[in-house]
Amino acid sequence: MAVVSLALIPGDGIGVEVMESAKQILDAVQATYDVTFTMTELDWSCERYHRTGAMMPADGLDVLGRHDAILLGAVGWPGVPDHVSLWGLLIPIRRTFGQYVNLRPMRVFEGVPTPVRPELSAGTDFVVVRENSEGEYSEVGGRIGRGSSEVALQQSTFSRVAVERIAEYAMTTAESRRGHVRSATKSNGIIHTMTLWDEVVDDVAVRHPDVTMSREHVDAMAARMVMHPSDFDVVVASNLLGDILSDLAAAVCGSIGIAPSANLAPDGPGPSMFEPVHGSAPDIAGKGLANPIGMLWSVVLMLEHLRLQEPAAALMSAIEESLRDPRTRTADLGGTASTGEVTEFVAALLLKER
Ligand code: NAI
Ligand code: MG
Repeated sequence: MAVVSLALIPGDGIGVEVMESAKQILDAVQATYDVTFTMTELDWSCERYHRTGAMMPADGLDVLGRHDAILLGAVGWPGVPDHVSLWGLLIPIRRTFGQYVNLRPMRVFEGVPTPVRPELSAGTDFVVVRENSEGEYSEVGGRIGRGSSEVALQQSTFSRVAVERIAEYAMTTAESRRGHVRSATKSNGIIHTMTLWDEVVDDVAVRHPDVTMSREHVDAMAARMVMHPSDFDVVVASNLLGDILSDLAAAVCGSIGIAPSANLAPDGPGPSMFEPVHGSAPDIAGKGLANPIGMLWSVVLMLEHLRLQEPAAALMSAIEESLRDPRTRTADLGGTASTGEVTEFVAALLLKER
C-alpha cells in the first residue's frame, strides 16, 4: 500500500471550492485503489494575510518540504495587492523547491463548445512548457522621479542554465508525444534576452534529432493558436510568454475553468506543486458555479507524477465523460451543473471501478 503525504492549500475564493472537489475525488481514489493519502490542510491565503500580515507562517516552506506533493487552489483577493499574494506564497514555493517547469496541457474535449469553429479546433491536444524560475518575473528594478517625469525599470533574467533545462524538458516531452516543439520568441524586439533564448533552444534541439523544432515570434504564434490550434504539440516559452499563451490556449479550448498546471521540480529538491491555471474568481465565488475540472485535471497530473498511473487514467476518463454532457458540465461550458454536481458525477465513476 502506497502512503502519500499531500499538503493542501485551498487559498481564496473559488480556490476553496475546487479544493473541496479535489478532496472528495482523492477520497474516492483511496477508496478504490491501493493508496492512502495523508492530507495536511493549510489556511494560507489573503484572509490569513489580513489576520496576521503574512500569506504563510515563517516556517511555511519547511512545512511544505515535508510532503510528497502540494495541491493548491488559488490565491488572491480584492483588498490584498496581487503582488503580495503572488510574491508572498506562489513564487517562493516555485523557486525554493526548484519547480522550474510549469507544465500546462490543453485539449479540446469531445462535446465541449469552443469559441473557435469546430473544424479548426477539433483534435487540439498540446502542452505549454513554461519556464518557471526566472525571466520577466523578477524583483530587480525600481521607480525614480515623480509625476510626469516618473520612470520605471524592470530587469529580466535569462540564464543559459535555465533556458537549457526548460528546452531539454520540452524536447523530451515532445519525444513522448508527436515530436514537434514550437519555441515562442520575440528576438526581433527583445534583442538580448530573447536572442540568448533562441540560441540555447537551437543548441538543445540539435541533441534531439527526432524532434522538429520551429521558432516563432509570440505574436504570430498567438494568432496561429486561434486559427490553427490543432497544429500544436509542445510549446516552450519564457515565464511571461508562457503565462499568456497558456491562458489563450485555455480560452481556445473552451474555458480557463478546465485548465490544469503542474509546477515540477525535475532535479529536486521538490516537492512539486499542482494547481488549476485559474485564479480565485471573486466574481463567481460562493455561488457553486466554479468549474472543478481545472483542479481535477491537476489532480490527474499529480497522480501521474506520483506514479499512480491507474487512478490517474481512471480520473482522466471520468473527466472526459463529465465533459461530454451539458448536464454534467458547469455554466462556463454552457452546462447546467454546479461545482458539487460535477464532482459527484466524477467521484461516482471512480467508485464504480471498485
Ligand atoms: P480568474 O482566473 O480568477 O478569473 C478570470 C475569469 O474566469 C473570471 O470571469 C472567472 O469567473 C472565470 N473563471 C476562472 N476560473 C473559473 C472556473 N473554475 N470556473 C468558471 N469560471 C472561472 O482571474 P482574475 O480575475 O484575473 O484574478 C482573480 C484573482 O485571482 C486575483 O487576485 C489574481 O491575482 C488571482 N489569481 C491567482 C492565480 C493563482 O493562484 N495561481 C492565478 C490567476 C489569478
Ligand atoms: Mg496566468
